[in-house]
Amino acid sequence: MSAAMSDDPPIGEILVQPDQLKERVRALGAQISADYEGRDLLLVGVLKGATFFLADLMRKITAPCELDFMALASYGSQTDSSGVVRILKDLDAPIEGRDVLIVEDIVDSGLTLQYLLRNLGARDPASLEVCSLLTKPERRKADVPIKYIGFEIPNRFAIGYGLDHAERWRNLPYVASLLRPESGS
Ligand code: IMP
Ligand code: MG
Repeated sequence: MSAAMSDDPPIGEILVQPDQLKERVRALGAQISADYEGRDLLLVGVLKGATFFLADLMRKITAPCELDFMALASYGSQTDSSGVVRILKDLDAPIEGRDVLIVEDIVDSGLTLQYLLRNLGARDPASLEVCSLLTKPERRKADVPIKYIGFEIPNRFAIGYGLDHAERWRNLPYVASLLRPESGS
């Protein structure tokens, strides 16, 4: 039976192992702690994919920090965003004068992040930077500045550690490639 016909989970090769995730999150937390000491750090998590990374990262940050969330919907197929973005849930509070760090799961085309940077930038934060667990440089359509990057991955659809395909597989403790990207659920 071919892979496309089986009922097995569509988990391909492992791209980032749990111990690599743990070590990189620790290092990013240390770097962010040093960079934001004495400032007014607000982490903005992008729902839902970034929540696993964010929860681990925030516990490695020793500088005082607060947390808010945004939820965005990007029109497009299950595996390609169009760049046309809609806000499903906005921030609870204004960010004027604050040091904002956007925490993303993955930057793929960069179109969602480009929209978010423009939208939040217009609210006059003191600073606005991005921390993304993963990046797929080969897929980039928009040139977006990412100050903190966990891992560069190849041009594969990734699942696990918060990343989903059709809302499933977020609970995997590692990041893997999806075996059958266009198979639906
Ligand atoms: P972009 O606008 O193309 O950069 O993609 C934006 C969003 O699409 C990311 O924040 C993810 O939520 C989702 N996404 C992009 N690539 C992947 C992937 O490989 N696995 C899971 N979600 C992805
Ligand atoms: Mg996302």
